[in-house]
Amino acid sequence: TPVTLKFRTGWNRQNKNAPMIARIAEESGIRAIAIHGRTRADQYMGEAEYDTIALVKSQVGIPVIANGDITTPQKAKYVLDYTGADGVMIGRAAQGRPWIFREIEHFLSTGEELPPPLVSEILQVCREHLADLYAFYGEETGVRIARKHISWYTKGLVGSAAFRRTMNQIPDIPAQLAAVDEFFGHLAEADSRLRYEEELPQELAA
Ligand SMILES: Cc1cc2nc3c(=O)[nH]c(=O)nc-3n(C[C@H](O)[C@H](O)[C@H](O)COP(=O)(O)O)c2cc1C
Repeated sequence: TPVTLKFRTGWNRQNKNAPMIARIAEESGIRAIAIHGRTRADQYMGEAEYDTIALVKSQVGIPVIANGDITTPQKAKYVLDYTGADGVMIGRAAQGRPWIFREIEHFLSTGEELPPPLVSEILQVCREHLADLYAFYGEETGVRIARKHISWYTKGLVGSAAFRRTMNQIPDIPAQLAAVDEFFGHLAEADSRLRYEEELPQELAA
């Protein structure tokens, strides 16, 4: 079984030990490494940096996967070019937007952006995801955990803030599903593809 390893750039900015960890990993038979471009002390503050990932890539022969703050196809291309990494890893930007992977793949292979997904497709993806959550967690916990995923699926979509406030009060599966259907139904009437509102400044986006 191939074993891979994921780590940050170091303990803190004074102790970026990623190059050493990468060499130890390679010597130990690890088959690929993924690096998040922050230190442990950074937590999630500031921005991920890619110089350390580029340095590691120049020093090991195993595949290196770059991670941290990659949110768009353009950023994925930038990070791949800048670091020379063999791949990128996406975390938070895929929450509620799992189609980001095909958007990145398309952009990397053609240089063009895909149109936003169809509302009908996202509703189907969301519903399948919710069905899995209900089946795995049961109704009470499933509905609660589903709220955060529904929030991610709808974040930034026209009219979604008011929808989320209502949706977060809904206690059971049928009503939660009906609310999701209704929200996406209204969206589909206005436009067959997803339409995001202008990005709001952080303090207004709450
Ligand atoms: C909800 C959540 C759970 C995570 N769980 C793990 C984990 O179990 N192991 C891990 O190595 N990183 C974990 N991470 C960190 C991510 O893999 C990633 O390194 C980090 O979020 C930075 O990438 P991003 O900017 O694309 O999100 C988690 C991140 C989030 C948001």
